[in-house]
Amino acid sequence: MNIDFANLQLQYQKYKTDIDANIQAVLNKSNYIMGEEVSELERALEKFTGAKHAITCSSGTDALLLAMMALDIQPGDEIITTPFTFIATAETIALMKAKPVFVDIEPDTFNIDTNLIEAAITDKTRAIMPVSLYGQPADMDAIQTIADKHNLKVIIDGAQSFGSTYNGKTDSNLGNISTTSFFPSKPLGCYGDGGAVFTNNDNYAEKIKMMRVHGQNRRYQHKYIGMGGRLDTIQAAILLAKLPYYAQELEARQQVALHYTKALSDSIQTPTIKLNRLSAWAQYTVIVNNRDDMQIKLKSGRIPTAVHYPAPLHMQECFKYLNYKKGNFPNSEKASSRVISLPINPFLSKKEIDYIANHFSLA
Ligand SMILES: Cc1ncc(COP(=O)(O)O)c(C=O)c1O
Repeated sequence: MNIDFANLQLQYQKYKTDIDANIQAVLNKSNYIMGEEVSELERALEKFTGAKHAITCSSGTDALLLAMMALDIQPGDEIITTPFTFIATAETIALMKAKPVFVDIEPDTFNIDTNLIEAAITDKTRAIMPVSLYGQPADMDAIQTIADKHNLKVIIDGAQSFGSTYNGKTDSNLGNISTTSFFPSKPLGCYGDGGAVFTNNDNYAEKIKMMRVHGQNRRYQHKYIGMGGRLDTIQAAILLAKLPYYAQELEARQQVALHYTKALSDSIQTPTIKLNRLSAWAQYTVIVNNRDDMQIKLKSGRIPTAVHYPAPLHMQECFKYLNYKKGNFPNSEKASSRVISLPINPFLSKKEIDYIANHFSLA
């Protein structure tokens, strides 16, 4: 059996007619920068997420930068997040010359442990940045309560969770500002780099729109120091073709995850999704005690796997200056040494899932 991790090729073949037509339309018009497809996509994203404003941009990384620029994050400000995430979460905080302050994760959801947040708040704390890791939102009620009590902003790093929900609301419609990534292998991916910022606040939206075009409020008039952070029209056109299928794909991902859990929960620790949440299932990540052996075994069955993420951020060389030590975040450290992500995409068949699961029961 030849299993594809994200199966982007099959997805392209399924939607090829729509995708090719949309790309061709952009080529015919040569409207490569901020063509009408960009605003058309933004209206469609607002409709899908329920957020008042969707502002597309060049990547999930740039979406985080734009969010912090809109909130006027200043050098020395502290932003609380977790060390068990992709580098971009904390890297962008550091790029703003603010300080990432890490808080450990819950061992079951891998999301920020909200019981530990208050102890990390100082008079320099400006924001909390929860990450909806693997596609599942963090405990947003608890986070919002803490933020309100301490007058902090909430920026959701939703790079992995487009379409996920918390108490029925998408995570693009929570916090002060929420972001996502359209990296090709993300649940909703384009064919290059792309991202979006979401907010219900008119002032933030206006500033984000300026920031993504060099802080410009009128042509060649620059109100702020911003960045070149636009989404290409061709990427917008691809996303416009894919978005109508996305609800169906999200449902298919639920079914894939459900089948995995049925097949695997007797042998290993499968993902925990809280009752009030729906994961976008960017990853299906399990915990194993013998990861190296397991990866070899799965590889011998031609099953691709990935590790998200093998080192927590407080152990990365670039964050040495933060002076954290091994042992500071035990749940993150334990997860980093034991997580393994299995192939997941809307087209994975029950037969393929059973084949993958069999390799675990043989372990
Ligand atoms: C949690 C998280 N944040 C941010 C990003 C950055 O997104 P992008 O690759 O689109 O810049 C990613 C991408 O993998 C991510 O997983």
